[in-house]
Amino acid sequence: MKVLVATQKPFAAVAVEGIKKILVEAGHEVVLLEKYAEQADLVAAAADAEAMIIRSDKVTAEVIAAAPKLKIVVRAGAGYDNVDLAAATEHGVVVMNTPGQNSNAVAELAIAMMIFMARTQFTPATGSEVQGKRLGIQAFGNVGRLVGAKAKALGMEVLALDPFLTDEQIIAGGASPVHSVEELYASSDYVSVHIPALPATLKSIGYDLITKMPKGAVLVNTARKEVIDEDGLLQALEDRPDLKYVTDVMPDNYALLQEKFGLRVFATPKKMGAQTSEANINAGLAAARQIADFFATGSTRFQVNK
Ligand code: 3PG
Repeated sequence: MKVLVATQKPFAAVAVEGIKKILVEAGHEVVLLEKYAEQADLVAAAADAEAMIIRSDKVTAEVIAAAPKLKIVVRAGAGYDNVDLAAATEHGVVVMNTPGQNSNAVAELAIAMMIFMARTQFTPATGSEVQGKRLGIQAFGNVGRLVGAKAKALGMEVLALDPFLTDEQIIAGGASPVHSVEELYASSDYVSVHIPALPATLKSIGYDLITKMPKGAVLVNTARKEVIDEDGLLQALEDRPDLKYVTDVMPDNYALLQEKFGLRVFATPKKMGAQTSEANINAGLAAARQIADFFATGSTRFQVNK
């Protein structure tokens, strides 16, 4: 089978080698499309693909329609909001993710961003310490739990909100459960966002929530920019000069935020939470194994469009 590895943001070379090895040994052919300039390049490359491995690459209805032989798409990573699931299902294409495989990299970045803001973006200005502060984790999944464990080791008090978990499960994960998003924001010196981008979560974090945060609080977003109401964020930062925002997903209004709020805001230019060799190897090789298993045994473990 022809497996297209389409990564606008390429995997580390060592991960690419591992992916090729798994797939070639299983009898498949691997085609690489890295750092492509246009979405049209992906559409063209998909034409004869029978399987695809992607990262945040956009597998739109157009890509799926252009790939008549396509049977499976594996998103090497957690969030699959970049795949048109309805179009995939309509064309009988199985879509999978690789849950947990890049979580540690994202969790380490969330902690790093928190300290970066606490220490005023590594400028000589007097900062603060995270020890003894309260961290609220919004969604206690693979990344959220790792952030919580690392924060506890730093001496932080960890709260978590997750509508899909019981209090017992949150406590077993090492955090104190809270029961509403308002309570989470009102109780946390830092909030670390780990919710997926879904219709129900789009722009769900806005002025009302952000201004509930206590004095000097920091909002840390290593999830998706789409979950933030950017106008609300701007207004909140305007009305509350004590608040800060740090994100791995550059907001559309970042130039304005920087101009108005300087060191109170920081965004990475390109999403880099999962950009470690380890995460690339874990997620990339898992994706390759899932494709090999799918063709060898029909396994649909980790399918997200069942
Ligand atoms: C994910 O959902 O797994 C992360 O956002 C990583 O995305 P990336 O593979 O594009 O870095």
